Amino acid sequence: MRAICPGSFDPVTHGHLDIIARAERLFGEVIVGVGKNSAKNYLFSADERIDMLAEATAGMPGVRVLALEGLLVDFCARHGVGVIVKGLRFASDFDFELQMAHMNRALTSVETVMLPSAAQWATISSTMIREVAAYGGDVSQFVPPSVAERIRSTIAQRAEGTPEHA
Ligand code: PNS
Repeated sequence: MRAICPGSFDPVTHGHLDIIARAERLFGEVIVGVGKNSAKNYLFSADERIDMLAEATAGMPGVRVLALEGLLVDFCARHGVGVIVKGLRFASDFDFELQMAHMNRALTSVETVMLPSAAQWATISSTMIREVAAYGGDVSQFVPPSVAERIRSTIAQRAEGTPEHA
């Protein structure tokens, strides 16, 4: 069965990559759906997030990376996806994921499988990584080297473009 790992991936972390690799082992074929939710204030553009994921999953033959626009269930129907795979870190993830799983199943009967995050990555988030990086912290242990480099250059560019007292 074809699976999807949907998310914002702003940026992709080792936690995401662990879930994607396990989804590939379970289902064989995985689409990574990179969300373009315009309400969000992303650090990276959709194209950059897709590029970072394509690089990070280059060694996973069953994985493809595509932009995800509109409703997830419509995307699943268009691409023959039968199962949504999500990673769970803590109880608050579960509460939100359960709500989405019920909604998605009510809309089209697509299933959701929730995998417990690897213990090593169980408390990291893209949000925290963006915050630490924005203040000059080193996030290289949480993301692939190519992503760490992009974070460094993106934050440096932003700093150059920011007025001194802004
Ligand atoms: O990494 P995120 O920000 O938690 O990912 C959110 C994402 C992209 C998985 C979610 O917003 C999503 O599924 N968006 C598609 C729009 C949709 O179908 N929304 C209703 C879900 S019940």
